[in-house]
Amino acid sequence: MDFLKDPRFEGIQKFEKKVWLSSPTMHGDEQRWVDDAIETNWVSTVGANINEVEKLIADYVGVKYAVGLSAGTAALHLATKLAGEKLYGQARPNAGTLQGHRVFCSDCTFDASINPVSYEDGEAVFIDTEYDTWNMSPQALEKAFEMYPDTRLIVVAHLYGTPGKMEEIKAIADRHGALIVEDAAESLGAKYKLNGQWVETGTLGNYNCISFNGNKIITGSAGGMFLTDSGEDADKVRKWSTQSREAAPWYQHEEIGYNYRMSNIIAGVIRGQIPYLDEHIAQKRAIYERYKEGLKDLPVSMNPWDEEKSQPNFWLSCMLIDEDAMAPQVRGERDYLYQSVPGKSSPQEILDALTAFHAEGRPIWKPMHMQPIYQSHAFITVEGNGRGRSNAYIAGTGTDVGADIFRRGLCLPSDNKMTPEEQEIVIKIIHRCFI
Ligand SMILES: Cc1ncc(COP(=O)(O)O)c(C=O)c1O
Repeated sequence: MDFLKDPRFEGIQKFEKKVWLSSPTMHGDEQRWVDDAIETNWVSTVGANINEVEKLIADYVGVKYAVGLSAGTAALHLATKLAGEKLYGQARPNAGTLQGHRVFCSDCTFDASINPVSYEDGEAVFIDTEYDTWNMSPQALEKAFEMYPDTRLIVVAHLYGTPGKMEEIKAIADRHGALIVEDAAESLGAKYKLNGQWVETGTLGNYNCISFNGNKIITGSAGGMFLTDSGEDADKVRKWSTQSREAAPWYQHEEIGYNYRMSNIIAGVIRGQIPYLDEHIAQKRAIYERYKEGLKDLPVSMNPWDEEKSQPNFWLSCMLIDEDAMAPQVRGERDYLYQSVPGKSSPQEILDALTAFHAEGRPIWKPMHMQPIYQSHAFITVEGNGRGRSNAYIAGTGTDVGADIFRRGLCLPSDNKMTPEEQEIVIKIIHRCFI
């Protein structure tokens, strides 16, 4: 379909400059600290920028130690491995630390959250999502412990910068003697009221991770951090991330190492970005509020958050189409088909319309239990086993909140450089999809 010629979109001009989902926003200070690294020749994995960003982030988030790493994925891997060692001891040769063990994982997240479970040879069991924050459902988690009571590790993410129900999840973890790896890659700067006290995401697990990937709320172009109050864990992660060298004059190795340390040049970019974290959050929040207001007359809702217990960083604004306003849409593994129906629309139609006008949206992250690579893994909903719940001879199917949000939802252009005027046009395009 040619949206630019479709009469529904009459009078709307294609954006000359692309409106992005979430692109890096540089301020100038980044260049100064990168230049500083180059001029002083501290361009490798040691230097003032690394020291400074570790200190600044630890102070901002409220942890004792932040360890700069090459990516959020690296942080998640080492966090998961630390948890595995703590629970089950050092891995045997040819085996990860989680071999033979299940790990309860957020289902609606980016796969980097949970791939480290596989790196460590564990078996990810996916926990369904709740509708209130689009994060791990505490009820489904409780169900999972009923089914697999010997599980001792949970990997939990905060989707799109919205904190999940961490008070409930932590209480369940405590009751079952389980540890938590917290993936705060998307939620740096988001706050959560834990037992009456406001804290930052990135402090809510036993092992906590953030990301400075190019699309995140602040970026180093790449990079991530492991956050902890444990000096011992911070030292271990630092050692593992620099190839696990023992104290010997030669390269001496008694455990497996990784090349995961942050570069001082990347740290320079992050150092330039940190002073703008709160500004970025305010811009993202304004974008969310404008969508909420601009879309309120449509049969849609925004990605929800708990206004009493959390302050998201509003990294991505998303919308969910009401069931009765969904036009037919089917998705294969790599392609899709939809029908335009008056008064209704579908995520794929809206995404196609945005693309035609040079704006970038994205489908909701496809849940992990639906990913081909993880389709053979258990998936637990509030009802128990989330797979095989229909019956050829009995009406009805089981609940699958993640699949439903994936089907009806989409991520909207959320770039903090998008002007209110540009956003008005995005809102207009969405409206026209429902004509
Ligand atoms: C939820 C989540 N976890 C982990 C990551 C991985 O972070 P990185 O790209 O820094 O490796 C990302 C994003 O990239 C993410 O969105």
